[in-house]
Amino acid sequence: MPGMPSLTIGRITVPYPIIQGGMAIKISTAKLAAAVATEGGIGIIAGTAMSSAELREEIASARKMIKGPGALGVNILFAVSDFAELVKTAMSAGIDLFTSGAGVSRDMYTWGRQYGVEVVPIVSSARLAKMAERLGAAAVVVEGVEAGGHLGTDRSVNEILPEVLQAVKIPVIAAGGIITGRDIFHFLKKGAQGVQMATRFAASVECNAAQPFKQYYLDAKKEDSVFIQSSVGLPGRALLSPLSRKIISGEKIPVENCSGCLKKCTGTFCIRRALEAARLGDIEKGLIFAGARVGEISDILSVSDIFRKLVLEFNDEEQRCQDQAYYNWRLNEM
Ligand SMILES: Cc1cc2nc3c(=O)[nH]c(=O)nc-3n(C[C@H](O)[C@H](O)[C@H](O)COP(=O)(O)O)c2cc1C
Repeated sequence: MPGMPSLTIGRITVPYPIIQGGMAIKISTAKLAAAVATEGGIGIIAGTAMSSAELREEIASARKMIKGPGALGVNILFAVSDFAELVKTAMSAGIDLFTSGAGVSRDMYTWGRQYGVEVVPIVSSARLAKMAERLGAAAVVVEGVEAGGHLGTDRSVNEILPEVLQAVKIPVIAAGGIITGRDIFHFLKKGAQGVQMATRFAASVECNAAQPFKQYYLDAKKEDSVFIQSSVGLPGRALLSPLSRKIISGEKIPVENCSGCLKKCTGTFCIRRALEAARLGDIEKGLIFAGARVGEISDILSVSDIFRKLVLEFNDEEQRCQDQAYYNWRLNEM
């Protein structure tokens, strides 16, 4: 593998095997997704909590901003009430790829075929990966417990990845706790065709989150990464903060003027407002989703600098791993 290989998912080929994970609520918008696609990766707009008109506008604006060979996708959480409407809006607006997690939708494969969009579900087990392949997935993202946001497993991506690779023939993308080009090298070496990274891209200039959100990432230490029970009905990985402390301790957080945004909500707190507050920089009321390795991020970089760094680190690791003894030592260390 001399240098980072390209990534092919169905009809799409991009120069770099890197997908920027979708981040609701309006954390990954056109600006971030377009910057990633311009560098040669796959940029994902998170459509969750956007209106159809907003989502259409974001896609059109990303298309105008993309100046490079990458691809554009949209992510929508299966758990939201307007899932069907938003997926059809995104697909009819001319995206290359659609990703979704937190539940199984059979319809999205039918719509993908109708609109000519590659469908890539986010799964956390070989069983779900196999089912997705049967339904028509072009690839699967395998997300482990290291990932930020809602989680479908308590197992590491390092454990699940080999099982999924055994179970399916479609490309497998590894996700959760991937921060450096070194990590990318080792996941590809293990058989993944690409990686999905979100936390690294949240700490970028082009990310739509307010400065206090990004600063909270920079200040975070390893032990600040905690699990909360989300009102979506799934666990989630977030940063220790006034709100996550309350959620963990089981304190009741009143929900006012519920908009009914989820198909099913436990009602313990409003996940939509909590994520929105975080994005706007309200650390007191916000829920700050972040992956397990956020503590290793020490700078807010432009997307082009992130790509440059990832490629350098990848090439460096590839060079070092020509020495089998070094490679074996690194595998043990990971
Ligand atoms: C702030 C934040 C918001 C996220 N929102 C979503 C989302 O709306 N939909 C989704 O499928 N995944 C979401 N994720 C998960 C990411 O897309 C990605 O798969 C995961 O975070 C990868 O792990 P990493 O952050 O350690 O790179 C979110 C992650 C973060 C950090």
